[in-house]
Amino acid sequence: MRVLTGIQPSGDLHIGNYFGAIKQMIDAQNTSEMFIFIANYHAMTSLQNGEKLKENSIKAAAAFLSFGIDPQKSVFWLQSDVKEVMELYWILSQFTPMGLLERAHSYKDKIAKGLSASHGLFSYPVLMAADILLFDTQLVPVGKDQIQHVEIARDIALKVNNEWGEIFILPEAKINEDLAVIVGTDGAKMSKSYKNTIDIFNDDKTLKKQISSIVTDSTALEDPKNPEECNVFKIAKLFLDNEGQENLRNRYLKGGEGYGHFKMYLNELVIDYFKEIREKYNELLNKPSYLKEVLDFGASKARKIAQEKMQKIYTKIGL
Ligand code: ADP
Ligand code: TRP
Repeated sequence: MRVLTGIQPSGDLHIGNYFGAIKQMIDAQNTSEMFIFIANYHAMTSLQNGEKLKENSIKAAAAFLSFGIDPQKSVFWLQSDVKEVMELYWILSQFTPMGLLERAHSYKDKIAKGLSASHGLFSYPVLMAADILLFDTQLVPVGKDQIQHVEIARDIALKVNNEWGEIFILPEAKINEDLAVIVGTDGAKMSKSYKNTIDIFNDDKTLKKQISSIVTDSTALEDPKNPEECNVFKIAKLFLDNEGQENLRNRYLKGGEGYGHFKMYLNELVIDYFKEIREKYNELLNKPSYLKEVLDFGASKARKIAQEKMQKIYTKIGL
């Protein structure tokens, strides 16, 4: 099964991203043929500062390698290193009805949030379709907001296939329904846009500050507390096995400890869990030439597949 996913290099990653998406991606390397790329062309739609985009892309590469992407098992590259995708984007644009893009929620949402209505932002789903179709992708694991984009890719593929025969595989979106939404420090869904995150690669002081800001009720220190309704407990569970969860549950029920104690414990859990990942990340950030080597290696594998696919398309379109 060929699975492809693009990662927006957009700043700090939080534990909601990790437990909601990244961990599954890393685990899937053992069962699927994974294609993973850093979507720096897509990031341009909201960031036009070259230095910052480059920095974000390097950080994303370091982060995902430290999480455990294995460049031997998966094809891992920087989107702009395989230029064929841009060419396919233009070709697919000829098969993309305006109405299809006009209906895209993500575009409307971004405009509503104040992004300027550029053609790049509008045609973003066509570039995403090119990412997906260029590599004969079967499955695209995505968050709910991206399902429509995968459907757009399917619609475009169908249109091309109607015209030219079976050129493209029809991709499917894969949404992990059973995965719980990870709550943020205020109890709502953890999200960059709500500023309620617990970040993975920030310094210890920021981590502590984010954890102390978790909203709790005002049950007195000595009284028993309900773990299931506590945001600290909900987050701590992610880091604990059954026995660990049971122990912590008992501490809540027993009373005699305040939320401050549980927050301190959560702080230790987060630091322990991400210790090696954070060390690896910092080590990789200091090795830009190694990062480039890894990305070049991935790009050469991706490019080979892309070029073979494009040969067929050139014949059809007359290039
Ligand atoms: P954010 O909401 O912080 O902007 P993104 O939209 O960039 O996060 O999400 C990137 C990936 O992480 C998506 O696959 C999304 O489903 C997952 N994700 C983000 N926040 C959460 C969360 N609170 N719980 C579960 N998964 C999440
Ligand atoms: N649009 C995706 C996001 O914002 C990133 C992305 C770009 C992508 N190209 C893709 C995801 C192709 C899956 C497949 O998260």
